[in-house]
Amino acid sequence: MPSKRQLDERAFRAALGRFASGVAVVSAVADGVDHAITVSAFTSVSLDPPLVLACVDSHNRFHAPVLGAGRWAVSILAEEGQDAASWLASRGRDLDHQLDNVPHHRGAITGAALLDDSLGWLECRTWQTYDGADHTIVVGAVLWAAVADNGDDPLLYYRSHYGSLVRRPVSERGPDPLPAEMERPVLEPGSGSGGG
Ligand SMILES: Cc1cc2nc3c(=O)[nH]c(=O)nc-3n(C[C@H](O)[C@H](O)[C@H](O)COP(=O)(O)O)c2cc1C
Repeated sequence: MPSKRQLDERAFRAALGRFASGVAVVSAVADGVDHAITVSAFTSVSLDPPLVLACVDSHNRFHAPVLGAGRWAVSILAEEGQDAASWLASRGRDLDHQLDNVPHHRGAITGAALLDDSLGWLECRTWQTYDGADHTIVVGAVLWAAVADNGDDPLLYYRSHYGSLVRRPVSERGPDPLPAEMERPVLEPGSGSGGG
């Protein structure tokens, strides 16, 4: 009988699955080729300086290109982005044409794809990477951020299913209009140190 102290891998995965998250697509251009993957392991790190992170599986084809590019973008998906999320999480898809049917525009700084079916976007320069065993923790300095004019329904992920947000009438902070400064770059391109 396994010791109670021993980690049950199924329990580990099941417990993590109970952590509901948003869904984002991280994208980069390397050697003129678009790379993009769906991620849920994305979070803010620091406000000053503005840093975010994504955990990238080292087995993913995306791993080498995003590290090599040194610059990348994040699209925080709206509900309408579910098809794109599924597609960009499908193994073995044709990388050369993977964005052909995914509506997107280009980040002015990184040139990386910004998915249209998103609520917000970030452009980042790799600030630091950390060994996370079978993942690499890629921390990015945020160079630019913006939110979509329309739409306020995020794509969520919980226990391997996509879901929708149900708002409660009571919140901690009350109404929270989007601050105008979110529309402006938070760092000038090329300022600061590190990255490509
Ligand atoms: C909802 C969801 C969240 C995911 N989150 C991550 C993640 O945080 N990091 C990661 O490396 N892969 C994540 N994946 C898996 C990648 O999207 C998937 O392995 C992708 O196909 C890799 O593409 P590539 O082979 O072109 O690199 C996630 C998949 C789904 C469906």
